[in-house]
Amino acid sequence: MQLEITVNGKHLERQVDEDLRLIDFLREELGFTGVKEGCGVGECGACTVLVDGVSVLSCLTRVAQVDGKEILTIEGLSEEGELHPVQQAFVETGGVQCGFCTPGFIMVAVELLELNPDPTREEIREWIEGNICRCTGYVKIVDAIELAARRMRSEEEKVET
Ligand code: FES
Ligand code: FES
Repeated sequence: MQLEITVNGKHLERQVDEDLRLIDFLREELGFTGVKEGCGVGECGACTVLVDGVSVLSCLTRVAQVDGKEILTIEGLSEEGELHPVQQAFVETGGVQCGFCTPGFIMVAVELLELNPDPTREEIREWIEGNICRCTGYVKIVDAIELAARRMRSEEEKVET
């Protein structure tokens, strides 16, 4: 099939097998290896990307399902060499250890803060329950999302005043 897609702000047209998994297209054809394959069966969340702003497991998604859509991977988050506030907060709180799960957590956190800029810790925990981390024990991940939310809200306030 002829695929028309936007990935990290770049419009692309490619001839692809319609059964190709989105994760393979992103990693192998486009080189976005920040998209991680943990389980390959929808259990771990490591492969999460945003499709039109909504988190999607790229290991369970075929390219045909995202034709015409906008994809955002972890590589598309930073702007002009500056980490996204969620990325920065993960670094500062120790929400990253081996880092394998981190892109997936960050993408769902970005989605959450778009929908709810001031989540409680409980809401954060519920939102990330589809993502698995074998290293951190989750507390520092929740700390990171809370810190990013606080900073993003204060940035918003500055813009509004
Ligand atoms: S690799 Fe997709 S959910 Fe684990
Ligand atoms: S930091 Fe290692 S799996 Fe989460």
